[in-house]
Amino acid sequence: MANLLITGGAGFIGSHTCLVFLEAGHELIVIDNFINSSPEAIKRVVQLADAHHRLTLVEGDICVEADVEKAFTSFRRKNFLFHSSIDAVIHFAGLKAVGESRTNPLDYWGVNVNGSYTLLKVMAAHGCRTIVFSSSATLYGYPQRVPIPEDAPIAPINPYGQSKAAVEQLLADLAASETGWRIARLRYFNPVGAHPSGMIGEDPCGIPNNLFPFISQVAAGRRINLKVFGNDWPTFDGTAIRDYIHVLDLAAGHLITLETLLSEKPQMLTLNLGSGVGLSVLEVVAEFEAVCGQPIPYEIVTRRFGDAAKTVADSSLAETRIGWRTTRNLTEMCRDGWAWQSANPYGYAN
Ligand SMILES: NC(=O)c1ccc[n+]([C@@H]2O[C@H](COP(=O)([O-])OP(=O)(O)OC[C@H]3O[C@@H](n4cnc5c(N)ncnc54)[C@H](O)[C@@H]3O)[C@@H](O)[C@H]2O)c1
Repeated sequence: MANLLITGGAGFIGSHTCLVFLEAGHELIVIDNFINSSPEAIKRVVQLADAHHRLTLVEGDICVEADVEKAFTSFRRKNFLFHSSIDAVIHFAGLKAVGESRTNPLDYWGVNVNGSYTLLKVMAAHGCRTIVFSSSATLYGYPQRVPIPEDAPIAPINPYGQSKAAVEQLLADLAASETGWRIARLRYFNPVGAHPSGMIGEDPCGIPNNLFPFISQVAAGRRINLKVFGNDWPTFDGTAIRDYIHVLDLAAGHLITLETLLSEKPQMLTLNLGSGVGLSVLEVVAEFEAVCGQPIPYEIVTRRFGDAAKTVADSSLAETRIGWRTTRNLTEMCRDGWAWQSANPYGYAN
């Protein structure tokens, strides 16, 4: 059992990962400022895991050193009899909307880069040198070849991607500076779906940027129709192709990564986490319609600036290096995502 600090643990990926880590027997401190989430997610996670005494919530901002310090010291206080400290950090907290990053670059550099810097500074001061970082396939920009391997050029085309690249570089510099760091940079492709209970899921503030929450909200009657950005891409049906990964497969990837980091010698791992399967927008719409039993009205609009025709992971390194690969298919992604959205049409605000 490890003592883990989870930043952004109330968010979409963070909440599912907290659940998987609690089920694996770990003790968690979550720090979140709820800018894009709700404390209700954490309540439901501990309920699902039946682990009320193994998760402590600290409401705080990763950009504020005193808040991060509070997370480290509140853990010490809670476990004062055993002199425990935090063994590792799973770092999800950040801003993630590509379009918004173009209009508010200061916020994105501030939270994603400065927040990570502050977190790493407090970690180093406490002698905690193990971190799993949420990076993104956005780093690859317009990929030169697909499937995309980890050694493809890093060429982000928006401030969000630039901020992830900057944190990746900071982590590489730390790994090179001394031998004690255990670092994983996990480049996610397109996380979707939800826990099959329908109790936790993705609950974006405002208009969703991503395909799945948009489709789900149309199916739930919250939006009139889906906007499909372009049907003139060089793909088999003209719509863009992405690599979707069930959020529980992604959460499992974090668990296996952490176990690898803690059991092997200090190192830095850089891994793509994707399914390796490319699916078009219209394929996803058709499957979602089949699962929810109703049509998803959509309209074709012009391409969105910065989108690529096809983005699919080469995930073979994750399979050979840590023994991880996805186990859930598109039907399960749609079924579980719909279980969440239909039970919570307005997300946690229900
Ligand atoms: N969802 C995706 O498609 C995707 C893809 C690739 C990478 N990622 C990365 O994975 C991570 C998690 O993504 P997610 O989809 O769960 O996003 P999310 O917005 O649902 O979760 C992020 C969490 O961080 C919290 N947060 C934001 N700023 C904070 C701050 N300053 N201090 C404390 N908490 C803060 C939010 O309240 C939220 O709970 C992010 O770093 C994101 O960039 C996500």
